Amino acid sequence: MNTNIDNFNSVRKPKIFNQSASFVEGWYWVLPSQSLFVGEVKPVTILGRDLVVYRGQDRRAIILDAYCPHMGTSLAQGKIEGNELRCVLHRWKFDAEGICVDVPDLDEPIAVKAKTWPVAEQYGIIWVWTGETPQQPLPFVLDWENQEFDFTLGGEFSINCHPHVLLLQGIDTQQINIVYKLPLKMVLEKQELNQNAIIFNTITNINSKSFWLKLYRRFFNSSLSYSICYWYGTTSIITFGNDLTHLHIIFTTRILPGGKTQGQTLLMCKKRQGMFGKLINKLILRLGKRISDRLLKNHDQILQTMRFYLKNPIKADLSIIQFINHLERQKPLTHETWLLPREKEREEEVREEREKREKWRDELVND
Ligand code: FES
Repeated sequence: MNTNIDNFNSVRKPKIFNQSASFVEGWYWVLPSQSLFVGEVKPVTILGRDLVVYRGQDRRAIILDAYCPHMGTSLAQGKIEGNELRCVLHRWKFDAEGICVDVPDLDEPIAVKAKTWPVAEQYGIIWVWTGETPQQPLPFVLDWENQEFDFTLGGEFSINCHPHVLLLQGIDTQQINIVYKLPLKMVLEKQELNQNAIIFNTITNINSKSFWLKLYRRFFNSSLSYSICYWYGTTSIITFGNDLTHLHIIFTTRILPGGKTQGQTLLMCKKRQGMFGKLINKLILRLGKRISDRLLKNHDQILQTMRFYLKNPIKADLSIIQFINHLERQKPLTHETWLLPREKEREEEVREEREKREKWRDELVND
């Protein structure tokens, strides 16, 4: 039976979900912190926009638009001087706010600014906010407050499908129950943390004959929690375990031209003290790495050839519908320009007007 639940309209075309030309304003991963040394500048293309990222002597990571505001030279070829970046061509120098602070041919620098973007560095990753001012913190889940973590980076990956389609596999309970042959019946409950974050969770009692689950029950207790928290529809934090042991597997993604996913895996668990605690965490994180690799490998084969749509949802698809609806209520930006779709249309109108005016002037001159 078809069911049109949670105001889902399977006919209306989504503006954000599974679209390659738009994305949600938010925090996106750029590079692992360890891959950018002090005094180094690198080119990166994030969500279609060319940027440079550099690290000055104060160790702060700075992100600017890639091309010099003077004549368009790539700033990735520039040189770091202290905490500032000097363009390689005419040697104009820009500070960490993008302000031009030196023009060698002039006594005073002119009032020019390279476009900079808000940057954060946490969990071993450099992140960029794709708007003027961050409206939300970096992705987190509620029980992270006032906690210290051990973490390790997993691999970088790319998969031939849209990030939304990849990440919603974590709430596709039909698939989880059937494909993974889980002996646990999974029913998810949703909670919206804020405009950009939604969490789905379940606590399941273990009544299984499976050897591993019986072993688990012997050492811990009979319940196992599973939750998945989405930020901007492109970072998912999967948490499972019990009160003593929680493992967080984070897949943070962004879309590549053509609709592919480029992602980075991150594993986290609460910090433990002492040699024994460190050893336990090392094992948990290593286990997490293996699980995350396995999840990606399993999904890769299926998603490569999938053409996603949801024409005939059933009740078990409710979480997917809630995820899509939550995503559609967020602020969409256009790939490459990072502007609101309306702003992009306005820019095109202005360009057309300018072209018309130039044509009119040319005709006047030729007359
Ligand atoms: S192009 Fe960069 S200073 Fe001229």
